[in-house]
Amino acid sequence: MSCPHLVGIAALLKASHPDWSPAAIKSAIMTTADQVNLSGKPIEDERELPADLFAIGSGHVNPSKSNDPGLVFNIEPDEYIPYLCGLGYTSQQVGIIVSKSVSCSETIPEGQLNYPSFAMTLASGENKTYSRTVTNVGEANSTYTTRVTDMVIPDGVVVVVHNPTLVFTEMNQKLTYEVTFRRSSVVEINVPCGEGAMAWRSGNYLVRTPFSIKYV
Ligand SMILES: *[C@@H]1O[C@H](CO)[C@@H](O)[C@H](O)[C@H]1NC(C)=O
Ligand SMILES: *[C@@H]1O[C@H](CO)[C@@H](O)[C@H](O)[C@H]1NC(C)=O
Ligand SMILES: *[C@@H]1O[C@H](CO)[C@@H](O)[C@H](O)[C@H]1NC(C)=O
Repeated sequence: MSCPHLVGIAALLKASHPDWSPAAIKSAIMTTADQVNLSGKPIEDERELPADLFAIGSGHVNPSKSNDPGLVFNIEPDEYIPYLCGLGYTSQQVGIIVSKSVSCSETIPEGQLNYPSFAMTLASGENKTYSRTVTNVGEANSTYTTRVTDMVIPDGVVVVVHNPTLVFTEMNQKLTYEVTFRRSSVVEINVPCGEGAMAWRSGNYLVRTPFSIKYV
């Protein structure tokens, strides 16, 4: 049932922001989603246990917040080409998807698409670094920071944001940051997956990106 609701919300956002791409609309919906229910309690799954990332995704959609997300993670249609090639599809297969002739000369790892979440595998002691580019759709002059208190980090994992402050001076300005996820080689992890989130904050804006780690 989330699909028809999301389609309606996407249509409202497109009417409110005619210049936003489908990726920007999706980003606005994802990064502003609520993590608790109307009583401020954890959202539960069908077993009445706190819902994990696989049940809840980015969270419970908050349409009015998504109308003013502060930052968006945009993706141009052609950026999907190196992504699809990197997933292992052939040039011909990708060509069918994007309806034009493409060559898979450039590929990116799955986690490098400019998506408002992260999914990765991490072996013991391994680290992975991704970059993301955010577009300022909030206030022209605004400074976003990441704070430890806005982060949820699973045990045995370290998350480092290399440039933890983003200073914008214009609307639609784009800034890029890098984030490294590192799994400890000493902490024993006995679960198959870990999940967490990081966020960019500026005034009342909170731009949240969840992440999921499969321990291999
Ligand atoms: C919120 O979730 C809690 C459990 O985490 C539940 O007891 C409560 O009824 C829920 N409230 C609403 C308004 O759904
Ligand atoms: C991250 O992994 C690379 C190899 O992929 C390694 O060279 C580097 O030392 C690691 N960095 C940290 C901080 O663990
Ligand atoms: C942003 O700050 C710059 C420099 O302080 C100033 O020139 C500009 O007018 C400000 N823009 C807005 C929209 O407030």
